[in-house]
Amino acid sequence: MADRPLLTIVLAAGKGTRMKSARPKVLHEIAGRSMLEHVLALAAATGSARTAVVVGPGMDDVAAVARRAAPGAEIFVQQAQLGTADAVKAALPAIREHRGDVIVLYGDTPLTPPETIARVRWSLDGGAAVVVLGFEPDDAAEYGRLITDAGGGLLAIREFKDASPTERAVRLCNSGVLAFRVEDLASVLESIGNDNAKGEYYLTDAVEIVRAGGGHAAVVTCDEADVLGINARDQLAAAEAIWQQRRRTRAMREGATLIAPETVWFSHDTQIGRDVLIEPNVFFGPGVTVEDDAVIRANCHIEGARIGKGGRIGPFARLRPGAELGADVHIGNFVEVKNASLGVGAKANHLSYLGDGSVGAGANIGAGTI
Ligand code: UD1
Ligand code: CA
Repeated sequence: MADRPLLTIVLAAGKGTRMKSARPKVLHEIAGRSMLEHVLALAAATGSARTAVVVGPGMDDVAAVARRAAPGAEIFVQQAQLGTADAVKAALPAIREHRGDVIVLYGDTPLTPPETIARVRWSLDGGAAVVVLGFEPDDAAEYGRLITDAGGGLLAIREFKDASPTERAVRLCNSGVLAFRVEDLASVLESIGNDNAKGEYYLTDAVEIVRAGGGHAAVVTCDEADVLGINARDQLAAAEAIWQQRRRTRAMREGATLIAPETVWFSHDTQIGRDVLIEPNVFFGPGVTVEDDAVIRANCHIEGARIGKGGRIGPFARLRPGAELGADVHIGNFVEVKNASLGVGAKANHLSYLGDGSVGAGANIGAGTI
């Protein structure tokens, strides 16, 4: 893989009208981070040499998030939404300059693990000119169907609206992730037409075009959860649930005890040390570090805070941004800490607000203190 640099194109032009939101779809968040940032992190994790993000007209907020999350990313504007092939064509200047593989990701599909994209790239290494990431959903609904030959080789992707009843019966579906190892992707894109049920330029037509040119097309498969696409808020919640589930497993595998894992909510950047004990109903907002041996008792809300080694927090504590707790600090029930540091072994055990200040090592703050 190393000798063929990768260009990743992230499609983010969709407004996402089904979200019923003033916010563009790809800026909705999973674990406190926008879907677009999750996908850009994936592009970085898979070793993209170059990243292009395709946005719609006037989506300056989306472009700004992309520039901040991936400073090297190039932003292209797709003027009208004429289909996924047209969206990729918005990035033609980058495609023409690039010598190497090209992979297309959707900005609204935020749960794909880097290992899955690595398998797609290995398939290119194995000689495929175009690789599709496929999956078998419980309900194939209106996904594009992967039409294969007897040996499992990929012949075409048929969009649901254009598929015959036999083709609709196919269970293997297109996730949207497509990868190319072709001499001239620009000319493949130029030869895609829009003579189909939706009158759109389908990127999926590239499979048949590459095959007609003598290239081999392959399918790599993955779990449905890895390629869940978000169109509406119920799907956003379903994706959040999958993300949280994975993160809880990771926390436990890395040495934390979660008594009721399904009631603990992590943020994309939560750092948890070893032998940390987390009781039920704990929510971590962004920017939290919990050092080794700390105990977080039930019903705490924690964001932008550091909990030192051996700290004891809660039950019912609130740590807000700027809470810096040294080792062995005790924060008890109905105590709120904001923008304040507590030295080693300091205690505030009952009903207090500690804000914009610093408390020395070993101090004991009495009940009801502000
Ligand atoms: C697409 C695939 C389908 C696949 C499904 C998986 C095509 C033709 N079809 O269908 O085979 O099963 O995804 O979810 O590719 N976009 C743009 N500009 C456009 C059109 C789309 O940027 O003009 C972006 C959208 O914002 C979205 C992505 O491309 O992120 C997919 O577009 P969408 O219209 O949702 O495709 P589907 O019909 O779901
Ligand atoms: Ca879609």
